[in-house]
Amino acid sequence: MDAAFTVARGDLLVRDGAIAAVGPAVPAALAALPGGNADERLDAGGCLVLPGLVHGHVHLCQTLFRGLAEHADLLRWLRERIWPLEAAHTEASLAASARLGVCELLAGGVTCVNDMGTVRHTEALGEALEASGIRAIFGKALMDQGEGVPGPLRDDAATAMREAVAVAQRFHGAGDGRLQVSLAPRFILSCSEALWRDVAAASAERGLLVHTHVAESPSEGREVQAAVRTTAARYFEARGVLTSRFVGAHGVWLDRDELTFLAAHDAALVHCPGSNLKLGSGFAQVHNWKAAGVRCGIGSDGAPCNNRLDTFHEMSLAAGLSRALHPVDPLTARDVVALATCDGARALGLGDRTGSLETGKQADLCVLDVSAPHHAPHGQADPYTTVVHAARASDVRATLVAGRVLYRDGRWSTLDPGRVAAEAGAEARALVRRAGIAGLA
Ligand code: GUN
Repeated sequence: MDAAFTVARGDLLVRDGAIAAVGPAVPAALAALPGGNADERLDAGGCLVLPGLVHGHVHLCQTLFRGLAEHADLLRWLRERIWPLEAAHTEASLAASARLGVCELLAGGVTCVNDMGTVRHTEALGEALEASGIRAIFGKALMDQGEGVPGPLRDDAATAMREAVAVAQRFHGAGDGRLQVSLAPRFILSCSEALWRDVAAASAERGLLVHTHVAESPSEGREVQAAVRTTAARYFEARGVLTSRFVGAHGVWLDRDELTFLAAHDAALVHCPGSNLKLGSGFAQVHNWKAAGVRCGIGSDGAPCNNRLDTFHEMSLAAGLSRALHPVDPLTARDVVALATCDGARALGLGDRTGSLETGKQADLCVLDVSAPHHAPHGQADPYTTVVHAARASDVRATLVAGRVLYRDGRWSTLDPGRVAAEAGAEARALVRRAGIAGLA
């Protein structure tokens, strides 16, 4: 699938981590190679080869909390469970949580993640991401105020910025350019005005993405209104936070005027349908986002508000919700695949290197087996419909990042799943004890 949504039948040639030729161009490109042949072959017969999936919003620090926070309201969920659990992380538990999440994501065809991080131990997260081989944007979550924010998660604004910049200095561009660092002010309720202004300035100075949550839930909107006397997007606009480097997750309660100025600033939004449903946050109007011209992607959010890190599931939900909300003119299956590939990459500022299968782009690939009974009898009739409405994460046969096979047929090349699961179990038990939440230990 290229930028014009051409679906080619045939081979794909990878050289030095990049796509060297696609479909009809492959035989001539192969013949021109020394020896006239490829060093290695991956048989994708019976499969669709998709651009690697771009996962626009996730909290890898929360993978260990899956199933531990089943409240239905965002703010209670954060204050009573998520923040106390995040505050109990150590370097080891954070790394274990990230590895578990990346294991699941790679097995589900994801080649690129945009992760929010947590306040502490961001270096351990960066090291785990770097070692995994996945493409990632991540940052230190910034919080300098807020009801229910535990002391260990609260910095003063200057410390928060200093640490965030130190993470950027160490990891931005690491892993042969696979890693990028963002600034991640968590949301309006946890960040002071001074912090937002510092974030806007540092983003402009250093070219870093600003990854945050925006207009997610009704109760959050009420608290934001009480705290800053306006809505989140208007607040961001007035403080210079909205630029082409802005990536806001959720956006459920944005009005049309807000969408207009988000588009005018070339800001991006990430749709998180599974999380919005599970937390009861509402139905994001992605149809209106696109009509307004906002760049947009898709993600699952963290494991405790979904509880899957499965982009295929999110695509299916996005398509179903769009049909229910806009029966006459819903997002097409192709629109939805674009959210998880080329549009998602553009939303993260990575459209020049990933998100479609084109010569010169990074060889970030997802090989999807469409030969199982649940794809029969017309498995490859319309690839977009197949991907959105029939495919499952478990159909993924291989996931490659920059030409490197990170997952293939139930095996991960950079992660040992038995070890990852054992370590995650032990770290999760210890973390729950440290968090000391009544009823959890
Ligand atoms: N808003 C602020 N923090 C979070 C978080 O961790 N998850 C979600 N879904 N929304 C948030």
